[in-house]
Amino acid sequence: METKILDATFDENIKLCAEIIKSGGLVGVPTETVYGLGANALDGNAVKKIFSAKGRQPDNPLIVHIAAPSDVGMIVRDIPDTFDILAEAFWPGPLTLIMKKCETVPDSVTAGLDTVAVRMPEHPAMLSLIKKSATPIAAPSANLSGKPSPTKAEHVQKDLRGKIQYVLDGGNCRVGLESTVVDISGEIPQILRPGGVTYEELAKILKNVKIYDAADDSMTEAPRSPGMKYRHYAPKARMIAVVGSPEMTAKYIRQRFDDSDNTSENSGVSKKIAALMFDDFAAKNQAVVTFGACTDYGAQASGLFDSLRKLDSMNAEVIYAQVPDEKGLGFAVANRILKAATAVEKL
Ligand code: TXA
Ligand code: MG
Repeated sequence: METKILDATFDENIKLCAEIIKSGGLVGVPTETVYGLGANALDGNAVKKIFSAKGRQPDNPLIVHIAAPSDVGMIVRDIPDTFDILAEAFWPGPLTLIMKKCETVPDSVTAGLDTVAVRMPEHPAMLSLIKKSATPIAAPSANLSGKPSPTKAEHVQKDLRGKIQYVLDGGNCRVGLESTVVDISGEIPQILRPGGVTYEELAKILKNVKIYDAADDSMTEAPRSPGMKYRHYAPKARMIAVVGSPEMTAKYIRQRFDDSDNTSENSGVSKKIAALMFDDFAAKNQAVVTFGACTDYGAQASGLFDSLRKLDSMNAEVIYAQVPDEKGLGFAVANRILKAATAVEKL
């Protein structure tokens, strides 16, 4: 099967994709966070195809996308008051809410959990697709499992070539990182995955909000956010996250480039290295990809996954990455870099 890119600015292309969703097929879909791999969320067989196309573990549940906050009643029972507060403040947008699920939601969507993840995305093409499909759409990020999430239609086409008929092209993703996942099924809202809506924004609206730490789980309890236990977003190379002030991490990485030049001259045995660096601290080297200034977390977020894919195509053996401060959106950027890394160097 050929995988074609369809321009989402044409309504007939959205209609074509809606027909595929209705008939139980898969489509690559644009959202403001990252591209998704969509299927009819209420069709268990359609949802299973998502797992095989991505090579995703069946114990990792999916997010269900709806076109209006009032549609939440289709898939959620016991809607808590916090829902109205958060939907009012952040929907449509990069916030996913975990609540108790209805019987209508197939087990394949929720990996057998009694909760479901729901989000109303902001991208107009995705909202239109959900409406035209007349069903909620389940969609994980449209990358092969373990790879960086796609932020351009071409990324989806590359990862899922031959596995889906169409990718609906809605342009480059505005946010560039996945949604923030917040569990509101219990007493105190808990951030399970940092993302496009920041902790600071949530804390302004909610009296109490916790950041979930996997280390807090007792050994007997099932992980609260099953997806977070897998290594993610990873390029083929070994990736080393370098943590510290931008001055120190830049100096450390420059030194690695110098060392590798010297080794190759002297003995011919050098590791091919590359680096992900801040614009304002980048080493002058062809093997450097920049992803925004050190405090421009928005630019870092929108450029990160594309940068990881570029680094991947350089065929380096080791990639060094500068890690931003954990302020605002920087918290989610740092989370993704640390998840992609095989090792962390703290300076
Ligand atoms: O921005 C996004 O969230 C994108 C776009 C396409 O909407 N989607 C996305 O989906 O990132 P995915 O499947 O790559 O990540 C979903 C995350 C996983 O970490 C998963 O474990 C968690 O949400 N999740 C889903 N349902 C859950 C549930 N019932 N309880 C706890 N975590 C859940
Ligand atoms: Mg994903």
